[in-house]
Amino acid sequence: MNKQTDLLRQVSIFKGLDDQGVAKLSASLRPLDFAKDALIVGQDDQGDALYIIERGRVKVVLYGESGREMILTMFRAGDFFGEMSLLDGQPRSANVLAMEDARLLVLSRDDFLRHLREEPGVAANILAEMSRRLRKADEIIGNLALLDVYGRVARLLIDLAKKEGEATDEGIVITSRPTQQDIASMIGTSRETVSRVLSEFQRRGFLQMQGKKIVLSHGFAERDFEEEDE
Ligand code: CMP
Repeated sequence: MNKQTDLLRQVSIFKGLDDQGVAKLSASLRPLDFAKDALIVGQDDQGDALYIIERGRVKVVLYGESGREMILTMFRAGDFFGEMSLLDGQPRSANVLAMEDARLLVLSRDDFLRHLREEPGVAANILAEMSRRLRKADEIIGNLALLDVYGRVARLLIDLAKKEGEATDEGIVITSRPTQQDIASMIGTSRETVSRVLSEFQRRGFLQMQGKKIVLSHGFAERDFEEEDE
């Protein structure tokens, strides 16, 4: 019908809504623009809305006492966030910041809860999406505890390749990798360490770095990522 309803049909929790359901939902949404680096949701704030991303990427982050950042996840167009505090009535579980200029569609708490009551399919979709996110969080906790930093960088690149990689003769191309600081914040290490690990992977022929682009050599996922003995 229009751009907004097309987008809503892509959002995992609204899959299966009929035309009338999508139109009703669409009428409840309010667009809101955020500049790069703006704080969209602050940890510990009261939750009053759900956000759907129309344009731009956001990151979900926690800050340590020294200001160190841990990135829990990143979201892009067609993703949603802010459901947790609406569902359990607790304050926001984390901060959400715009990584680039972003346009969000805002659904008020009351409208969100009304849609859930009226559309049992949406409620079931939310449970499925929250299971997926918990599964992913389990994997990240496991990686933090069980893999060294080489394995963690490699795991993250394999995930990125699955999500947005393009197979070419040279290998799998990731066109827009996160910055080294963002990679560090996702795997609980420093930017310097990420830089060292990527350089070592490049020296060992596992990948090639070309600015924002990374090419993972054939068979990357099957490599032994242990640090080489001096
Ligand atoms: P809420 O707690 O309302 O506000 C912060 C939002 O970030 C939260 O809802 C979720 O939508 C999202 N969020 C928090 N932690 C995670 C996580 N581990 N994985 C994915 N999304 C998360």
